[in-house]
Amino acid sequence: MNSLAFEDMAEETRRAVDEADRFEELSPAVPADAVDLKPVPRIAIQAFCESDGVADTVETAARDRRMAKAHVKVHKGGVAAAIDFYGSAPTPNLIVIESLSDPGGLLEGLERLAEVCDAGTKVIVIGHVNDVSLYRDLIQRGVSDYLVAPIDLFQLIGAIGSLYVNPDADPLGRTIAFVGAKGGVGASTVAHNVAWSIARTYESDVVLADLDLAFGTAGLDFNQDPLQGVYEAISSPERLDEVMLDRLLSKCAEQLSLLAAPASLERPYDHSESTFDSLVELMRQGAPAVILDIPHGWSSWHRRLLASADEVVITAEPDLANLRNAKNMVDTLKQLRPNDVAPRLVLNRVGVPKRPEIKAGEFTDALGLDAVAVIPFDPLVFGTAANNGQMIGEQDERHPSAALFEQLSQVVTGRAEIQKPKGLDLAGLMSRLLKKG
Ligand SMILES: Nc1ncnc2c1ncn2[C@@H]1O[C@H](COP(=O)(O)OP(=O)(O)OP(=O)(O)O)[C@@H](O)[C@H]1O
Ligand SMILES: [Mg+2]
Repeated sequence: MNSLAFEDMAEETRRAVDEADRFEELSPAVPADAVDLKPVPRIAIQAFCESDGVADTVETAARDRRMAKAHVKVHKGGVAAAIDFYGSAPTPNLIVIESLSDPGGLLEGLERLAEVCDAGTKVIVIGHVNDVSLYRDLIQRGVSDYLVAPIDLFQLIGAIGSLYVNPDADPLGRTIAFVGAKGGVGASTVAHNVAWSIARTYESDVVLADLDLAFGTAGLDFNQDPLQGVYEAISSPERLDEVMLDRLLSKCAEQLSLLAAPASLERPYDHSESTFDSLVELMRQGAPAVILDIPHGWSSWHRRLLASADEVVITAEPDLANLRNAKNMVDTLKQLRPNDVAPRLVLNRVGVPKRPEIKAGEFTDALGLDAVAVIPFDPLVFGTAANNGQMIGEQDERHPSAALFEQLSQVVTGRAEIQKPKGLDLAGLMSRLLKKG
């Protein structure tokens, strides 16, 4: 080896050592237990940071592969900025608050924050005071975790993960099952529009599963033609895990993923009672809202899914057969789930020209339920949306039905109860008029 080549080699080695040193400076030390950190599910996280150090850590954590499915936004300002922000915006799944204030100021701020938080939103606080009694106070007030700054990204990812990924954590997702009182009444149309509306209005992830394997229309309605979907998910339950599910989902909108039906008749679809169990469980571990589009029917798996969902939405048209079926379904479901909210009722395709219809008030009185939405029959708008593979709100966000789907998404995600429109209280009005006369 001549001396020139030797110098070149030495120079190269020096450069490699420098590079390694620089890399070490840039990348934080990876703690041994970081390899066990689980990926964070599809949640929306907003952080309100007071110091640049914590804001940088949250930003770095957000770019980590374990947070790839979460949506993270970092804001400047601590709890006061959060209170201000959520006065007019829906709250995400998780709020991270950094606080530089003393314990008294922090607790007071958090109390005011709780007033503007939607049910189900969790809060992690990053403080600068290492104080066990403060930690206890915070946990007692419903704060999920308290971390003392400075924190590293693995601590933060670990804290978030333990809220959602641990076996003893509450399931993340709310399952909302949609079914029709009769075939073809628009249950799927309502399910798809509500799924879209939740993702859009609350910027919260939604997974929609089309369980009508032979004839499902979710793919058509969202203009998607995926090669795989729900059939693959249920045909090899032993292989089904988070990674496989991610592969089977297709993206319909920014925060809406679809598990499409094959809609092919190559094979018959005979499900057992528990066919969908592990799929539903997996979906609800991975996303805050899981929409189950169930075809009309009453076999053992229909009953099982409807009995175990967090919310059931029954769509019906205003005729006698729908009323009878809806009444049977409501009564049976109330028996099967005595400690849950009653099924929600949507009256759809109301006002078909020349069709004799049961009035909305009479229909709901017979069921003993208020309707969450009464959607007019509008073949032009619904037909065009279906043909174009669009949702109603996408086609025309000012269409009255788009507002109804938004209202419905508020109710089924637990953000609001039904607001009874004043004009619809016909029974009350009649009784007042009769008293006067
Ligand atoms: N409010 C409405 N006005 C006019 N047409 C509507 C309305 N709602 C739904 N439709 C249309 O009714 C048809 C049936 O709807 P959809 O497929 O959603 O019914 P379904 O209840 O899911 O049926 P299945 O029982 O087979 O699952 C579709 O063509 C849809 O576009
Ligand atoms: Mg359907």
